Amino acid sequence: MADLHVNIAGVDFKNPVITASGTFGFGQEYARLYDISRLGGISCKGTTLEPRMGNPAPRIAETPSGILNSVGLQNPGVEGFLQHDLPLLENTDTVIIANIAGSQVEDYVETVRRLQDAPIDMIEMNISCPNVKEGGVSFGTLPKSVENITKRVKAVAKQPLIVKLTPNVTDIAEIAAAAEAGGADAISLINTLTGMKIDIHTRRPILKNNTGGMSGAAVFPVALRMVWQATNRVHIPVIGLGGITKWQDAVEMLLAGATAVQIGTANFTDAYTPLKVIDGLNSYLDAHGEKSVTDIVGKVQPW
Ligand code: SIN
Repeated sequence: MADLHVNIAGVDFKNPVITASGTFGFGQEYARLYDISRLGGISCKGTTLEPRMGNPAPRIAETPSGILNSVGLQNPGVEGFLQHDLPLLENTDTVIIANIAGSQVEDYVETVRRLQDAPIDMIEMNISCPNVKEGGVSFGTLPKSVENITKRVKAVAKQPLIVKLTPNVTDIAEIAAAAEAGGADAISLINTLTGMKIDIHTRRPILKNNTGGMSGAAVFPVALRMVWQATNRVHIPVIGLGGITKWQDAVEMLLAGATAVQIGTANFTDAYTPLKVIDGLNSYLDAHGEKSVTDIVGKVQPW
């Protein structure tokens, strides 16, 4: 069996398969189905400084091979996360990633300050949520602002910092480079693509928020292209996500240059997807005589 371990910013993952923030809660529902310690890592639902109720419903709509969501960062706030949610993962033997978001730079900084002594392995900073009126994706679309917020948060973070990027930009490589310049230890991409769906009978948008973030299999080629462009630009590890539904997608992401992958929307249609991806990766590596998963990272041969 090939070695599936990967290292990201000094953190050892037993395999490169991480569940994506917002699609896995804190793992408890999935833990009824399988041993979640088999995962390489878990990125927890996004945490903000104060509790948030999220956006009004409807906030999920199906699209061809995907979904639109406009959840709006519903969460119990960082204190709720520390007191109630994080302890649920206490005995889970996997990399725990706290995902954080905010309306202002100061919110991010203060949230990360409160996580300094928490039992988490990494922080994933979400500057890519398209569903909030203040903050969110607005921090992630201009290189200067990406660099600035990364610098500010990195200065207080005790754990390695992953910056989660939005695809809703013109030049993803430039945004990735800005995160690296700000001191990010790694980047993850892509978050959702802003989209919309209209009920032709009521002539109203299906989502109460009017627009939402699109994810699922339909976005995979866009995610893959952006991961490839980002890895060609930066020297820090890249975590690839966006529409991965099967192990073959994960192999493509690794070949494109991702060191690890995240599984998101696929958890909703098949809760066992992360395990199937781990097993499929293993078989692929064996079939191709590869000793380690790291040996295929970035091995695509562009024409
Ligand atoms: C949400 O809570 O609106 C989704 C999070 C995100 O897209 O970053």
